[in-house]
Amino acid sequence: MAHASGFFSPKIPSLRKKIPPSIGIYRSGFCSGEGIPIRVFCSSTTQGAEKIDSGASPSESRVPRLVSKGCKLVGCGSAVPSLQVSNDDLAKIVDTTDAWISVRTGIRNRRVLTGKESLTALAVEASKKALQMAEVDPDDIDLVLMCTSTPEDLFGGAPQIQKALGCKRNPLAFDITAACSGFLLGLVSAACYIRGGGFNNVLVIGADALSRNVDWSDRGTCILFGDAAGAVVVQACDSEEDGLFGFDLHSDGDGQRHLNAAITENEADSALGSNGSVLGFPPRRASYSCIQMNGKEVFRFAVRCVPQSIESALKNAGLTGSSIDWLLLHQANQRILDAVATRLEVPPERVISNLANYGNTSAASIPLALDESVRSGKVQSGHTIAVAGFGAGLTWGSAILRWG
Ligand code: ACO
Repeated sequence: MAHASGFFSPKIPSLRKKIPPSIGIYRSGFCSGEGIPIRVFCSSTTQGAEKIDSGASPSESRVPRLVSKGCKLVGCGSAVPSLQVSNDDLAKIVDTTDAWISVRTGIRNRRVLTGKESLTALAVEASKKALQMAEVDPDDIDLVLMCTSTPEDLFGGAPQIQKALGCKRNPLAFDITAACSGFLLGLVSAACYIRGGGFNNVLVIGADALSRNVDWSDRGTCILFGDAAGAVVVQACDSEEDGLFGFDLHSDGDGQRHLNAAITENEADSALGSNGSVLGFPPRRASYSCIQMNGKEVFRFAVRCVPQSIESALKNAGLTGSSIDWLLLHQANQRILDAVATRLEVPPERVISNLANYGNTSAASIPLALDESVRSGKVQSGHTIAVAGFGAGLTWGSAILRWG
């Protein structure tokens, strides 16, 4: 299908045939369900953000993996809190203006969880919508992956979502913590569970309430974040129909100093430990600090590493930037979206952006934007999307996938 922009969206079967054997899929001794042997290259490296910048090839540690089964995205859903907070509202509590926030970030509004609402309830609402679109019964879910850095239980929220959805077979349910890259990592994890683990229906949720970890007196961070949940159903299919064409994942603990919400001891908690029996025991109760961020460094990291990652994922998929229909990045800052799109030569009309309404919703931002785009008819079945997540950790990565 040719688009006015000149973008080319191949029909599903021909896409697989176009992939050059040396990069994407090639025949080998491994057999798929239909006796057609298939392998794909994916990529996960240990290179840090600085090393990547120094020119090391992202293809160096590419690892070949067997794909005997495919996976595809068959449903999505999202939910946001009811309270909307505008830039003007923020200007009443910190020294800022609507103009400054809009120009520097593209954000105009964000949604914030109020006392009575819960992140789990948002995640359940988004999941129900995704299951409904996918026409998958909760009893047929095999795995629930809750991607979040703000669970409402320290031990994870996924089992509570499993319970609320009424999944009678008690599917495996657990959390993935990787901040704004969480959903992307959940998506690739779902594919791995399907391709290699015999799972059929995986519910991947991205949900975060960073408003609970924001210092609302810090104008450098509080203007950025909002709360939301989004979900997709990833389903097993024949390898020929596989909708995850390539991916590329990274992390760099050295960059944590630029973005974190580290654990801190409660200095006032000295009621215990005063009997002198064991020095430093029992430990003081700890809690997480508010988000600490060096915005300039995070910005530089994103505009440097994200395009490289997408280019690697495209290479692994045997595709080029001109063959994608949509660029869907973690919704952090419109200037980051613009810079990455320019570098990849993707025209603005192919860049999905909804951050003006929601701000940075961390792990929820990609599935929320995807859901809005699918429901508005922008993203259609068979469209190819380059998706990229990036954020705290530092973690970042990309996936080239097909919707539907
Ligand atoms: N209103 C008005 N002025 C402000 C505000 C504000 N809200 N915030 C900062 N300023 C001031 C600063 O004090 C500074 O003033 P000075 O020049 O007198 O010192 C000036 O504006 C410039 O500040 P910078 O921090 O240099 O502004 P910058 O253009 O870098 O924009 C921003 C800041 C928006 C935070 C940007 O750096 C950014 O978006 N970075 C990326 C953040 C991000 O994407 N995080 C994603 C990961 S989140 C996760 O994973 C959890």
